[in-house]
Amino acid sequence: MYSSHDSQGLVKVLTFLKAHNTEYLSGQDLSDVLRISRVAVWKHIKKIRELGYKIESKQKIGYRLESNTDMLLPWEITSGLKTKTFGKNAYYFDSIDSTQNQAMSMTMNVEDGTVIIAEKQTNGKGREGRKWISPKGGIWISIILHPKFDISVITLFPLASALALSNAIEKSMDVKSELKWPNDITIKGKKVAGMLVDALIESNKIEKLILGVGINFDVDVKQIEKILKDTPNFYGIASLREQNKTTKPISLLQSFLIELEQVCNLLNVGDTNKIIKDWTKKSSTIGQNVELNTENGKIKGNAVRIDDDGALVISKNKKNMRITSGDITHVSK
Ligand code: BTN
Repeated sequence: MYSSHDSQGLVKVLTFLKAHNTEYLSGQDLSDVLRISRVAVWKHIKKIRELGYKIESKQKIGYRLESNTDMLLPWEITSGLKTKTFGKNAYYFDSIDSTQNQAMSMTMNVEDGTVIIAEKQTNGKGREGRKWISPKGGIWISIILHPKFDISVITLFPLASALALSNAIEKSMDVKSELKWPNDITIKGKKVAGMLVDALIESNKIEKLILGVGINFDVDVKQIEKILKDTPNFYGIASLREQNKTTKPISLLQSFLIELEQVCNLLNVGDTNKIIKDWTKKSSTIGQNVELNTENGKIKGNAVRIDDDGALVISKNKKNMRITSGDITHVSK
């Protein structure tokens, strides 16, 4: 596990290599400037390489950082991040059962906006008790929040988070995505990301929200589709890498944290109108005929709008009905 507080020696060496990546730095130089032993320098260089950074070394001359890692390491997230609090603390795991479970188990004194990242999850959780397939290549994160917003807007929060991610995908990758009610993000009708929210509520006050976000960034679509094809709510998988070959996952994550902080600020001041307007603009659900499975059978209707609380309003035979949870299927336009 790596966190933004640990690995300070390693980060010192790395930051120096990044700042001087046009020249070679000898082990002795690094040791003198950073006031650490040559053995420590060597150990850090070895570790930095293991973390996916490319370091060129020339005998008797020194080291030079050639390229960055693709791993979403805590210090990469914090570095240059333009948020107030979100993402300023991060924990990275190579492999974990579920970032959501990990985030839930962390104590209340965790900072607002702390991010838990996993390279892969062995027991990823999806909505409605489903499994979430989380191999290496995706972005699997949970964000711990201590929201200031009122409990009355909590049901809009997952939709607002999906909007934030869709905005981030567009801004950082120049890729357009759609929003499928309640909080799926799709590309050409296939699922590219999903959100899951767990809440700790005490005396009608939100103590802690855990936003779990799964992004199929660079995953093997065929392989995941094969596993999921006979499961409920499966309608195809999309991978962001297919749409954009160059953007680094860290740019998307940083952009998402900025957008998420912004929608939370809107919720804090009660400006739900903007969220609903922007969500509707990007929605592939509104205007569709949709179908919902309930315990009492299927409900069908035309999706008309979302209410202030994020509920989907569908109309059938000139009667409106509010849907507050579950999965819908888009039937036709
Ligand atoms: C969905 O079903 O659409 C929601 C999927 C949420 C998956 C993410 S991956 C990171 C976090 N940890 C989990 O176990 N689940 C969420």
